[in-house]
Amino acid sequence: MSQANRILSGVQPTGNLHLGNYLGAIRNWVALQDSHECLFMLADLHAITVPQDPDKLRTSVRETAAAYIACGVNPDKSAIFHQSAVSAHAELGWILSCHTPLGWLNRMTQFKEKANSIEESELEKVLKLLKYFIANPDVNASQKEMDINIASELVKKMLEGGKNKEKANLGLYSYPVLMASDILVYKATHVPVGHDQKQHLELCRDIAGAFNRAYNPSYNVTENKGGFFPLPEPVIMGEGTRVMSLKDGSKKMSKSDESDLSRINLTDDSDAIAKKFKKSTSDSFPTVGENNETRPEANNLVNIYAALKGVTRAQALAEVGGLQFGAFKGALTDVAVEKLSPITKTMRELVASPDYIDQVLAKGVAKAQAIAGVTLKEAKNLIGFLQG
Ligand code: TRP
Repeated sequence: MSQANRILSGVQPTGNLHLGNYLGAIRNWVALQDSHECLFMLADLHAITVPQDPDKLRTSVRETAAAYIACGVNPDKSAIFHQSAVSAHAELGWILSCHTPLGWLNRMTQFKEKANSIEESELEKVLKLLKYFIANPDVNASQKEMDINIASELVKKMLEGGKNKEKANLGLYSYPVLMASDILVYKATHVPVGHDQKQHLELCRDIAGAFNRAYNPSYNVTENKGGFFPLPEPVIMGEGTRVMSLKDGSKKMSKSDESDLSRINLTDDSDAIAKKFKKSTSDSFPTVGENNETRPEANNLVNIYAALKGVTRAQALAEVGGLQFGAFKGALTDVAVEKLSPITKTMRELVASPDYIDQVLAKGVAKAQAIAGVTLKEAKNLIGFLQG
């Protein structure tokens, strides 16, 4: 298949894959395998931006590969490989980092959240207070004290944020550059990602553009023609791709949530699935379909139902919108068990055969290396590095 249609995607292999990873990422890759050349990696280089236990990392990489296969990624069609085994990712990552202004990285919301850095809005609040004091020198004493207390709390928070930022490692900061390299080293044209990775993908396009402008004199920026790197298109999947916590409809379903009841793990059996849906947060509206804009939990469950069934939200509502929560949760459990139990079963079998997984990975690595090696060589040549 031609390079005109190449897909790259991946998730971090950090244990406990859940319904959000399945509906939001892996499930959507399956259909793409028929129409595109696909590479699906395990982002183990990204995983070490936070501390990892070596044995657990090894297990998680194999487990996540097993999950890819169990969810329907076909190792005979698509390359499944671990990122760390293809050194071109890190090498091109360095080259791209030399084309990435810090200002672009400073805008990445994921880093800001992870590093808990200084909130600009807090700084603005303090400045506002200062301006107010200057403009109103006679403001009464108790008001002044109150305002000063508020300001000092804000400054404290900012300083704490600053300290956390100092402790954040460089990898966490340059994470999106490595992600750009993952994509560009294959000259991928399409990248299926969840909403939370959209900003990183936009950055990847910017970095590709910067490299193209630097080394392709004939690069047509407006038409995006004649560049060394194609600008990858995000493939943002439809309904149900943003799966929220079962306990709080405003938070993403996450492996790091302290409550296991907040997520459906791909290793949960049918009893666990039933229990978690039963205990999921509901509200007091009589039916699940009513007035649904203001009901994050009900919306989330309906979205999950639609995504598992492979129908639109409207179709799901036509079917189950009139049900009360109890009955709806029963229907939801049925469809979840029906869809997930074969995956769980296959995953268990695959995890029990690490040799098979290792073979799949070795094949994937070889395929990935063959493509990435060529891109890296060409990029080095464009830059003016002597061929080694
Ligand atoms: N950052 C992605 C995540 O956390 C994982 C990832 C790394 C990725 N490199 C990628 C996804 C390249 C798509 C393309 O989910």
